[in-house]
Amino acid sequence: MTAPFTETSECRALVLFGATGDLAKRMLWPSLYALHQDGLLPTGFQLIGAATSALTNEAFLTKVREAICVSANASLFEEVAFATFAQRIRYVTVDIQQTGGLDSIKGALRPGPGGVMFYLSTGPQLFGPICLALRDAGLIDPQSRITIEKPIGTDTETARQVNDAIAAAFDEHQVFRIDHYLGKEAVQNLLALRFANAIFEPLWNANAIEQVQITVAEAVGVDGRWPFYDSTGALRDMVQSHMLQLLCLVAMEPPAGFTPSAVRNEKVKVLWSLHPITGNNVETHTVRGQYTAGHTGSEAAVGYLEERGAAAASDTETFVALRVGIDNWRWAGVPFYLRTGKRMAKRSSEIMIQFKPAPFNIFADIGATLAPNALLIKLQPDEMITLTLMHKKPGMNEVKLAQVPLNLSVGETFGQSRRRIAYERMLLDVLRDNSALFVRRDEVEAAWKWIDGIIEGWQSTGYVAKPYSAGSWGPSAAIALTERNGHSWHE
Ligand code: BG6
Repeated sequence: MTAPFTETSECRALVLFGATGDLAKRMLWPSLYALHQDGLLPTGFQLIGAATSALTNEAFLTKVREAICVSANASLFEEVAFATFAQRIRYVTVDIQQTGGLDSIKGALRPGPGGVMFYLSTGPQLFGPICLALRDAGLIDPQSRITIEKPIGTDTETARQVNDAIAAAFDEHQVFRIDHYLGKEAVQNLLALRFANAIFEPLWNANAIEQVQITVAEAVGVDGRWPFYDSTGALRDMVQSHMLQLLCLVAMEPPAGFTPSAVRNEKVKVLWSLHPITGNNVETHTVRGQYTAGHTGSEAAVGYLEERGAAAASDTETFVALRVGIDNWRWAGVPFYLRTGKRMAKRSSEIMIQFKPAPFNIFADIGATLAPNALLIKLQPDEMITLTLMHKKPGMNEVKLAQVPLNLSVGETFGQSRRRIAYERMLLDVLRDNSALFVRRDEVEAAWKWIDGIIEGWQSTGYVAKPYSAGSWGPSAAIALTERNGHSWHE
């Protein structure tokens, strides 16, 4: 879905701030290496790693090599390819507090046609200062691009401050806000499923759809990030970004084309149409949970408050479930259930669209019950699309019915090609100046505005996180959330 590579949209260099940090090591260097190996980086494209530590180029390259070798792309590592990859890389020490603190970047950048893409893999508090330092150093021109990632603020006000600081140095069309879920192949396929197949559109509305469920369940805990996570929680960490983006792709109107503004215009309209959840309805429309000790698979798991680095007490939610309404003609009355959590029964991200039941059961007299049709889009760990249908069981005696799945396994259909890290796609799209799968400023702020209502609602009602055992599907109140409408979670 990426526009073909053209010389005009080409960048000549990437400057990666936070080049020795966690995200850079786990995702960005391994992704860049894979793009290099696949011949997808332009000839002469420079990779400049920038950080505050004083490191030699050799020491830095050793870190990059180690990072690739323990990453999801480790099996791609080859000495010959790494040697040519390393030729693109230059490490520079920077200090944005000092006048001339970015001179090292200036010195490293080779002149030439094409813009420079800056990637801020740093704490969000540095987004504004780095943008201003880049501007003051004269490093920004109309071809420059800036890439940042969540968390963009912690509420509407702070998100605006971050966006304003970036806007002081870059035009909005130069800003690429990553939501790595939009880089996942299966998530992009949602757009293809909806808008490259005519059969779904007539059914894709409140007349035919009973309910929608979006689950992003993780088996892992807070993964050594307790202090960060504790100040964030599942609602801000997952719902404000990834879950709402998935919801937008499911609920949006058909865009006028696959162009950045057409796609993003339709997504933001969904965000504007979300029915507010506030103090009035927060107790009936949301569930907050926090995991206690339990088991994930056969392994014992400690509770959230016993994790490494944990404080003795905290009410931060590690699980959230929501019943969301979309106030527009297409979706009025259809509940969208969103659920995400850490230390859940298994890693599973999926979207389930359940259609209305058949209007009349002609098989009732022979004792058959009809299960409603459902379209299940599994995003991870496996990519699979399943349509459940009622089917006659083969046999000569009386008619018996069973629900059967019609499966499309992406792996089997297209061959087991390597599953790419989502950042590979995102980096390439920035390089090619294609912002369709990046989040626009108004989307970020609209999402926060809706999330702010929930947080205020929790605060005003004193809603305390409910315990759930590690390895379960969350607090029992989450079951009640769907059952109140006669629905149940797909598991
Ligand atoms: C990140 C969150 O944005 O997404 C993490 O901060 C979460 O808490 C991660 O674990 C999940 O991403 P993925 O790609 O593993 O589903």
